Amino acid sequence: MNKLLVSLLLTLGVTGLAQAAGDAAAGQAKTAVCGACHSPDGNSLAPNFPKLAGQGERYLLKQLNDIKSGNRQVVEMTGLLTNLSDQDLADIAAYYASQTGSIGQADPKLVERGEALFRGGNLEAGMPACTGCHSPNGAGNDLAGFPKLNGQHATYVAKQLTDFREGNRTNDGDSMIMRAIAAKLSNKDIEAVSSYIQGLH
Ligand code: HEC
Ligand code: HEC
Repeated sequence: MNKLLVSLLLTLGVTGLAQAAGDAAAGQAKTAVCGACHSPDGNSLAPNFPKLAGQGERYLLKQLNDIKSGNRQVVEMTGLLTNLSDQDLADIAAYYASQTGSIGQADPKLVERGEALFRGGNLEAGMPACTGCHSPNGAGNDLAGFPKLNGQHATYVAKQLTDFREGNRTNDGDSMIMRAIAAKLSNKDIEAVSSYIQGLH
């Protein structure tokens, strides 16, 4: 592991919120309104709506709390979480985590560059490989709060990386881990790595 990655991991820590145990069956019943955009099983069809199926439970719960509090701004979801309790959010996270995520396809023309970035990072720029945290197959590491990326829509992934780079998404904690990484990515890098992630499994 390179030095930058080690220091990022150390500053990140693995704290986690004290959380209520989620009940997936109860959660399903609370997602009726979400299905319109994220699909009933969480495998959304529109490329700008993230797939939630199979995503890590801790990561999902953190995002739900961040969106509810406004720490992460999702205008499409304005007001939707306001009346949900901590237990509701935990149940919803458990439900989507229990579903199986679908896989997409990478653009063959972008695979080489995307794979090189995902697996090798960019040594010259001091950017660690994505695999160090999101794992070699993109499954993530839920205990550490590293989201699953594999199969996610390229359009959504590219928007997140751009938002981190431009400072429009700032909920990656005090370590600013994803903002630091995205700062090293060009638009072409983002296009390639996002396409690669969409086809990864
Ligand atoms: C009108 C469409 C819409 C509806 C309805 C909606 N969402 Fe979303 N959701 C979005 C969009 C768009 C994003 C991503 C925004 C961005 O680009 O950052 C998102 C992001 C998320 C994320 C973060 C995913 C990630 O990978 O970080 C979670 C979790 C989520 N939504 C859960 C829900 C839940 C639970 C509901 C129902 C209570 C819901 N959403 C309803 C559009 C919607
Ligand atoms: C040192 C660990 C680390 C490394 C290395 C790393 N990430 Fe992340 N990544 C994270 C964490 C932690 C989050 C979640 C931040 C949050 O809680 O919102 C994240 C979130 C993301 C998200 C948002 C996922 C979603 O569903 O919205 C994307 C996309 C992403 N990373 C892509 C990458 C790519 C591409 C690389 C390599 C170029 C990379 N990451 C390298 C730790 C890392």
